[in-house]
Amino acid sequence: MPFQWGVATAAYQIEGAVDEDGRGPSTWDVFAHTPGRVRDGHTGDVACDHYHRWAEDVGLLGALGVDAYRFSVAWPRVQPSGSGPANRAGLDFYDRLVDGLLGKDVAPVVTLYHWDLPQPLEDAGGWMNRDTAARFADYAALVADRLGDRVDAWITLNEPVVVMAYGYALGMYAPGRTLMLDALPTAHHQLLAHGLATGVLRERGAARIGLANHYSPALPADASSAGAAEAFDVFMNRLFTDPVLTGSYPEIPGLDDVVRADDLAVIAAPLDFLGVNYYQPTWLTQPGPDAPLPFDMVDAPGHDVTGTGWPIVPDQFTALLRGLSDRYGAALPPLVVTENGAAFPDEPDASGAVADTDRIAFLSSHIAAMQDAMDSGVDVRGYFVWSLLDNFEWAAGYHARFGLVHVDYPTQRRTPKRSFTWYRDLIARSRA
Ligand code: FCB
Repeated sequence: MPFQWGVATAAYQIEGAVDEDGRGPSTWDVFAHTPGRVRDGHTGDVACDHYHRWAEDVGLLGALGVDAYRFSVAWPRVQPSGSGPANRAGLDFYDRLVDGLLGKDVAPVVTLYHWDLPQPLEDAGGWMNRDTAARFADYAALVADRLGDRVDAWITLNEPVVVMAYGYALGMYAPGRTLMLDALPTAHHQLLAHGLATGVLRERGAARIGLANHYSPALPADASSAGAAEAFDVFMNRLFTDPVLTGSYPEIPGLDDVVRADDLAVIAAPLDFLGVNYYQPTWLTQPGPDAPLPFDMVDAPGHDVTGTGWPIVPDQFTALLRGLSDRYGAALPPLVVTENGAAFPDEPDASGAVADTDRIAFLSSHIAAMQDAMDSGVDVRGYFVWSLLDNFEWAAGYHARFGLVHVDYPTQRRTPKRSFTWYRDLIARSRA
């Protein structure tokens, strides 16, 4: 399979149209409408209005010349209450989108779950409830039956670690629960959902199947923090990779209560690729004696940061890709970088141009870092920039602009930034 250059988005972050064509409420609708949860009370009600402007956005993808576009299907459009038959009008939207992409020679890469759980499933316990995994498999079947003949690659879940950590342990993202270590069952139930959906997709002859994990290299902040870094690595990185690739969990107390006999065989179903989302490493120190978690995250001075304050460390991207290859060896399928990118406070200048040179520097240094890993033998088959458009950045609302295309939210006007032209040229050169 030739290397794919792409860009990525997610349904709740761009679509808007939250109550059109029978869409039901998701956890993110409820969370964003709860005062104090999202900065300045922003919501995804309108977002980039992509639900109505998708044809214009597909035009942008065509102009960019990407090989592939990664988007997510909103579960509450397909099953408004989280179970039962498909809502035809919801699937029609993605059907049109997929055909539009193919019309521009852009391969559709579909994420089935990018955090917008139907609220009725959350009311029944959400990812704390094992039954949600079975519901997800049913939903995957409905989407595959409609789109499977044209989808180039499937991604079951996006960043289950973030759902567990931010959504259920720390409460910064929907559904906003603060269970701390008691959130661990959400890891297992999401992984089970991934495994069951993989089976469903395989039965239907899916082209390629993967999972998109968030990876953050764990770095000890000082000489006495190796244990804290190790603990973070287990929770953040290995918990969502070991079972999928090796069929067993790392040593974590408390998981045994929720894992049933055949679960690990389901979770370890063979994959065609592993999706890697990389933004930044994390520095750790040993926590105090009564701390709820076995590590403390700390800032590490000495690095340039993005607009969201995230340290820019491309070397750790090389180390991450190499590290996956070293740790998992022959068990590692080909890698696809399913997200990488940066937010900066981009605004058009007097001439209307958006000269986002800092984003170009970020992307080019990270692409070079990926290529270093590939030169050393790591099998990487694709790279997707996060994101095509500026969009709703979860708890940061519209304050973080990650797009290659600037969106003026009051008018919905799209302006390709300088990074758009730069990426377009990079892709064109790579084909020459
Ligand atoms: C990732 C998410 C994606 C986007 C980027 C900035 O964790 O998967 O939706 O918000 O961060």
